[in-house]
Amino acid sequence: MEVNFAEAPGVSPATTLLDFIRSIPGHTGTKEGCGMGDCGACTVVLADVTDGEALNYRTVNACLILLPMVHGKQVITIENLAQRISGELRLHPVQELLVGHHAIQCGYCTPGVTMSMFGIFKDRATANPEEIGLALSGNLCRCTGYEKIREAAMQIGGMADDDQFVASRPEIVTRLKAIAEDTSTLVIRNGKGFYLKPFLLREALDLKNQHPGAILLSGATDLTLKHTDREKRDLTYLDLGAVKELQTISTGDDHFRIGAAVTIEQLRLFSKVNLPPLFRILNRFGSQQIRNVATLAGNIGSASPIGDTLPLLIACGASVTVASSVAVRSVSLEDFITGYHQTQIGQDEIITGTRIPKPEPGHVFQSYKISRRNQVDISTVSAGFRLFITDGIVTSVILAYGGMDKIPRRARHAEAALTGKNWTRETVELAMKALSNDFSPYSDTRAGAAYRMSVARNLLLKFFLEYSPDKTDHLISDQDHG
Ligand SMILES: Cc1cc2nc3c(=O)[nH]c(=O)nc-3n(C[C@H](O)[C@H](O)[C@H](O)COP(=O)(O)OP(=O)(O)OC[C@H]3O[C@@H](n4cnc5c(N)ncnc54)[C@H](O)[C@@H]3O)c2cc1C
Ligand code: FES
Ligand code: FES
Repeated sequence: MEVNFAEAPGVSPATTLLDFIRSIPGHTGTKEGCGMGDCGACTVVLADVTDGEALNYRTVNACLILLPMVHGKQVITIENLAQRISGELRLHPVQELLVGHHAIQCGYCTPGVTMSMFGIFKDRATANPEEIGLALSGNLCRCTGYEKIREAAMQIGGMADDDQFVASRPEIVTRLKAIAEDTSTLVIRNGKGFYLKPFLLREALDLKNQHPGAILLSGATDLTLKHTDREKRDLTYLDLGAVKELQTISTGDDHFRIGAAVTIEQLRLFSKVNLPPLFRILNRFGSQQIRNVATLAGNIGSASPIGDTLPLLIACGASVTVASSVAVRSVSLEDFITGYHQTQIGQDEIITGTRIPKPEPGHVFQSYKISRRNQVDISTVSAGFRLFITDGIVTSVILAYGGMDKIPRRARHAEAALTGKNWTRETVELAMKALSNDFSPYSDTRAGAAYRMSVARNLLLKFFLEYSPDKTDHLISDQDHG
């Protein structure tokens, strides 16, 4: 399918959903605060068809979404919530809640907050205190204060899903399914480049072969921020977010396989039961709006020293599957990341998935993230640890850290200081000292080198205290505390 944006003056594939929405007359309700995914003022909801006839509603930051990413989705903005019935303005139930709880002052954050509450309204599984906290964490409010907003949102669980979107669902599902029937690649000219959006893996691989310089994107939460608007217009993008074969999670006898286009939110919900230490770190990953589009492949592809999933995945022994149009290979995550924001991916390859070995009986896994704020903040230092003890002796241990070097990596000296030794505070303290042979951390605006080293050491001590010999009962059964 070829789309010609030249027929739509002022719009290109690099236009953000936020800019596009606000250019529509009468649609300036969606606000721009930071333009970087940090404030939630631009929150809108995307709906797409899941299995059968259901619609899946997801909050996103419109400032980070490139226009072609919403192909085949219903876009719901703040303007769509209130209705005029027989000339009378009727607020949506979530708007009534905000008004009723006096949860609005200047109102600048209110459209975004309302859309996040609408997301909770449409996904009842999230209408509990913990999930409500997470769902609202990406919306900053500088004057009302969060208590009133939270009180309003807490009422949603007791309400029926009864609004105009229930009535329009059959029609929307029919329309979205009709769009989905055409699985030919969407090709959009983008200045001197193209925006390519395949729906089938075979086509994605062929396109990467034909356009080796194409920039891959999945959720675009890293990518949208990287290029200036001017640059974005002439680049060739290969958008993998809609490739069906990359959207699945499967479970084998001894591993989990996470498709490249699985979102961090899908992975978070999956890991709650299957990999609690991953769930723990993903609860702190960005905001709901970010998690709803960001992917694991994007986190790996970015190869950031502070990518949150990376230390734990290294500790788990995860591997990355990369494919070209002619070959598929698997490479350990540790080897895959070669330098600061660099991986060993070839020009003609894409990441198709991540293989995470299931924890073996007796192995203890844990993850830690230290950041200035609990939510919507990147790590200062993070860690993923795996430990196996037999008769009080450390048989094997992996200590992987983020935020300590240009890449997330293992602390081999500290591991050696523990291996074959008693799992005691004394040996752990020796390993803590050995960390200075592993890392010479950097200083930046976030933290100084000495602070990073001190945190890295203390995380190891914390791990010991959580899994000290007198708590060996916890080694297998209860890994998600602390
Ligand atoms: C407000 C905000 C908060 C954030 N908070 C966190 C946080 O708490 N923790 C954290 O770790 N990160 C955070 N991030 C960074 C980002 O969200 C993550 O790195 C995310 O996992 C990127 O996934 P994505 O799908 O959006 O990647 P994209 O932006 O689409 O891509 C990122 C990189 O990976 C490459 N890539 C994407 N898909 C593939 C593929 N299939 N094969 C090969 N290469 C690919 C791209 O070319 C690009 O280089 C945050 C970002 C923002 C804007
Ligand atoms: S404008 Fe702040 S998150 Fe989009
Ligand atoms: S009401 Fe003013 S910023 Fe939230």
